[in-house]
Amino acid sequence: MSLETKKISYEVTDQIAYIGFGYNNEKSMTILDEETLRELDAIADELTKDKKSLKGAIFFTHKERCFLAGADISLISAMKTEADGAQGAEAGQSIFNKIEDLPFPTVACVHGVCLGGGTEFSLSCDTILMSDDKSSMMGLPEVKLGLIPGFGGTFRMPKRIGLPAALDLILTGKTVKARKAKKMGLVVETYPKEKIVELAKNHLKKGGFKKDGLKETLTDFAQDNFLSRKIIFQKARESVLKKTKGFYQAPLKILDTMEAGMMKSRSSYLSSEAQAFGELCVGEQSKNLQHIYWMTEKVKKFPGPKGEGEVPKLDRGACLGAGTMGGGIAWLMADNDMAPIMKDLNQEALELGLKQASSNFSGALKRKKLSRDDFERKMRSIGCQTDFSGFQKVDLLIEAIVENMDIKKKVFSETEKHLRKDALITSNTSSLSVEEMASALEIPDRFAGLHFFNPVHRMPLVEIITHSKVAPETVEALHKWVLKVKKTPVIVKDGPGFLVNRILMPFLNEAGYLLEEGVSMKDLDEACLNFGFPMGPCRLLDEVGIDVAVKVAKILHDGLGDRAKSSGLSAKMVEQGLLGRKSNKGFYNYDENGKVSGANETAQGLLPTSKKSMSESEIQMRVVLPMINEAAIILDEKIVETPGDVDLGLIFGIGFPPFRGGLLRYADSEGLDRILSAIEKFQGSVDKDRYAPSDFLKKLVSDKRKFYDL
Ligand SMILES: NC(=O)c1ccc[n+]([C@@H]2O[C@H](COP(=O)([O-])OP(=O)(O)OC[C@H]3O[C@@H](n4cnc5c(N)ncnc54)[C@H](O)[C@@H]3O)[C@@H](O)[C@H]2O)c1
Repeated sequence: MSLETKKISYEVTDQIAYIGFGYNNEKSMTILDEETLRELDAIADELTKDKKSLKGAIFFTHKERCFLAGADISLISAMKTEADGAQGAEAGQSIFNKIEDLPFPTVACVHGVCLGGGTEFSLSCDTILMSDDKSSMMGLPEVKLGLIPGFGGTFRMPKRIGLPAALDLILTGKTVKARKAKKMGLVVETYPKEKIVELAKNHLKKGGFKKDGLKETLTDFAQDNFLSRKIIFQKARESVLKKTKGFYQAPLKILDTMEAGMMKSRSSYLSSEAQAFGELCVGEQSKNLQHIYWMTEKVKKFPGPKGEGEVPKLDRGACLGAGTMGGGIAWLMADNDMAPIMKDLNQEALELGLKQASSNFSGALKRKKLSRDDFERKMRSIGCQTDFSGFQKVDLLIEAIVENMDIKKKVFSETEKHLRKDALITSNTSSLSVEEMASALEIPDRFAGLHFFNPVHRMPLVEIITHSKVAPETVEALHKWVLKVKKTPVIVKDGPGFLVNRILMPFLNEAGYLLEEGVSMKDLDEACLNFGFPMGPCRLLDEVGIDVAVKVAKILHDGLGDRAKSSGLSAKMVEQGLLGRKSNKGFYNYDENGKVSGANETAQGLLPTSKKSMSESEIQMRVVLPMINEAAIILDEKIVETPGDVDLGLIFGIGFPPFRGGLLRYADSEGLDRILSAIEKFQGSVDKDRYAPSDFLKKLVSDKRKFYDL
């Protein structure tokens, strides 16, 4: 055979072609990069050439946990014009068409990750078999990058599983495991990974599988009907608009392309899919989402500095405090098989922590992501106690007790005596100085801040707070651990409010001032929602707890000076017993289910009666510009190393709108000169301290540089 391939193996035995992905590839994942696509194209040609002598083709993987992880995103990020994008999509489509057009049966034996282009490839095969391994998953996550699947996925998926199920997969980008994939008809059968190729071969020898495709159900019948199809698309559009508030272009473009193409031929449909891919891939929104993808990839590598010693392994955990955060942290450790010890002052507190952990598991249990046996085993693995027994086995201690420096220091110096000398000690403090806490320890180099966000099971960000005595091995071990428990680490130097709370501070403070100036709560919250924030500042303050916000605001004011001075409104609310959702009243009232039931009248009474009308964009700039200014100061002080750290921190810490690519990417795209002059204007018209432009920002503007040039 003349075919020479490096990344894909090709072999013919007994008239069956065996094509193996991930050959000669040291990486754990196989992606559809240029070379792989070129080889796959050559293989498709070879198969076409040999069509008379072949009885079938089986596609499989040489990898432990990956079939095809999707298209190479660096190829997409390199695309400059719509035409580049459309051409790239057409090139992939043409290969997959050749596979689909082969006259003999083709089988994709999916084992491990099979996403995006991988799933689109599998759909071009007659039959998909899937290994029942935990690592096996299929899906079309392109929408999460602001893209439409461009290799024929939107054409072939509805034909395989029906329109409603296909829309659900494509518009949400969700992935499915083997059992679900079989249930929805995406795969014909699931097998153990060791047997999948052998069974595919036996079936092929017996004459192949029965042709896949739609089972005849009422839904499938309905989608052939023009009117019911229209209703399916209308419902999908409504649901997209509800979920995305119309901020995201890709799902709407996907819907338009699919709806307009329902009756088109393959070639005409695919050319409109490629066109849509081209338009989206070079659009600002997709570029912003691609930027976030690259930032999350970058964060997986420890940025250093590296130490010379061994990086400790963190297998067994303990958590001090079983409150709101402690219960969540114990859950996280139990979920990651760390058999955690949860220590609190008494049994009642421990019960509450267990309740918290159990309720965190309940979602996974309901969604069948966790079996009842595993749930019980994991819950049983949490040891509840009021003493230090077993602390010698602990590798990682996370403290989550009351936010009080003296108590924390006392607790640390006592706890240290019960731990091994190589165990790491961390604090989940949200506002206290980690440098000062370290001074309470005999071995401060194994101590750091580990700041989780509330609720632990939902919030992806963890700030790793360093101080002058921390060992690089400690930071590296924590960085590795945070990734292992599937959270996003950002390394932050100690300082008031660390990273996220410090940038959140001006957002919340300015909200207080705007309300005192007479802007209504409704206008304020709506303006922020319309910017893309997940909630407005009044709602956010209610969630955080207004008493907590007052405490943190004071720490920030003390640490940062008058630019961080808060309006005093929150303090007045606390005096009135308005603490936010936890007391059922804050800016808003909350019903027994914690849902907003209207504005709180006492809070309204604290605000001016004559309301000021302010444009939405002015409100947005009043809260966003001081965040950018504070971020510039943070970069200048080297609290974090890169603008990407700021952006990732805010997206994953407070839900800064991802489609804007992050706070500093947004600032860059608006133009730093414009940002600076708007800040200076507010400095004159609103407040000289709160809007005092940072020297660092001024320097960037005078050097004609952007944040991302740093
Ligand atoms: N709640 C949040 O939103 C949030 C977010 C991030 C960080 N944090 C930080 O996490 C820490 C805990 O906050 P929380 O909201 O979970 O508090 P919490 O009041 O809900 O729980 C604190 C728990 O610590 C226990 N405790 C007190 N002294 C103890 C001791 N000596 N040994 C063992 N247990 C002791 C208390 O009994 C209580 O159960 C604080 O430092 C806080 O700043 C809180």
